Amino acid sequence: MVGQKEAVREMAVALAKKLAGLKVGNILMIGSSGSGKTTLMSAVEELLAANPALALRSTVVRVHANVLGEEAEQGHPGEKLLRRLLDRARQQLGPETPIEKLLEQASHGLVFVDEVDKIRSQVGGQPNIAGIRAQEALLTLIENEAVPFTLPDWAGGETINVDSSGVLFVCAGAFEGLYDAVFHRVTYGKDQGALKPVTVVDETGRAHEELQFSLRDWLKHEDLFEYGVSPQFLSRFDAVVLLEALGEDDLLKILAESSDSGLRQSQAYFASFGVRLEVTESAARRIAREAAKQPRLGARALKEVLRRIVSPLEYDPKGVAGPDGVLRIDTDRVEAALARDAKDTDSSSSVGGWDQSYPAPSPGS
Ligand SMILES: Nc1ncnc2c1ncn2[C@@H]1O[C@H](COP(=O)(O)OP(=O)(O)O)[C@@H](O)[C@H]1O
Ligand SMILES: [Mg+2]
Repeated sequence: MVGQKEAVREMAVALAKKLAGLKVGNILMIGSSGSGKTTLMSAVEELLAANPALALRSTVVRVHANVLGEEAEQGHPGEKLLRRLLDRARQQLGPETPIEKLLEQASHGLVFVDEVDKIRSQVGGQPNIAGIRAQEALLTLIENEAVPFTLPDWAGGETINVDSSGVLFVCAGAFEGLYDAVFHRVTYGKDQGALKPVTVVDETGRAHEELQFSLRDWLKHEDLFEYGVSPQFLSRFDAVVLLEALGEDDLLKILAESSDSGLRQSQAYFASFGVRLEVTESAARRIAREAAKQPRLGARALKEVLRRIVSPLEYDPKGVAGPDGVLRIDTDRVEAALARDAKDTDSSSSVGGWDQSYPAPSPGS
């Protein structure tokens, strides 16, 4: 995991408390696409699974919020989520484990809800029934000491009450559009003029006015209500954590280090032809710089930039490699690929990620 200190810390403290058997508040993570939300969740999952002592004390399930929405439409989505925890606990502790022990383990589980922004209660002013039901379903589990739950057949099939107040919920979503909505509110919208332009002097010594907007400074609960997070649902989270837009240095690190980066995948492909794909240091930086121009894509932009460079080379790996079997990506190759693409399409996006500068609005725009 690169960067995202605040989110990592919040998660680490929550886990430490949880493993110590203390009460932990639920966490809501907001961060643009490719900022590392899913990566953080799976890192926690892996961490807990890798340590046998921890694995036996922590039952984790990760669900896509869309699935909760679908289950909400079929009824009993909360119960389905509990069932997942129970099944997972049974997997961990073995099928011989008494149901009381399994329920105890499940009721202290950790539930990751990914893409939680997909269960908005309204979209564009229209109510989103699946979203409303899914939020309600989560509400029935959060802080509830008596959730009616029908035991699976293998455990007798009767209906009992389960105390789910010990389940920790960590929800994450990109909340696409939230950034623009808040920016709009504090510039042209309801709180017009709240965000004041600042004077910035550029490299050439010229001064201009700029709006420096950071979601962190302006996000209010009301913005999330308007987005479609119900007040009751939001009130169940003790911490709302904003992930940062990844900068050039972070992206460079991810490109070089991340085991599931596009670079590793490309290297594996070329290696299967006996070709070693190398990226020079300066070329890697150039790639990171290009990717940083698309803050909305986060680290996903790396894959996109890399694809533009590498895909023309994939057809004939041996043909494009040097006699030593090495295919070296240097700055020239990167520049050539980017220039070629710039002619085809204008791939740079003008709107930014979570923290970045906008030109000051001209009157009447
Ligand atoms: N902070 C980060 N540290 C390391 N890798 C990251 C980070 N953010 C994104 N990535 C990489 O970018 C890709 C997309 O990240 P992901 O966590 O799925 O983003 P999202 O925030 O949209 O869930 C993954 O391949 C992941 O390895
Ligand atoms: Mg994700």
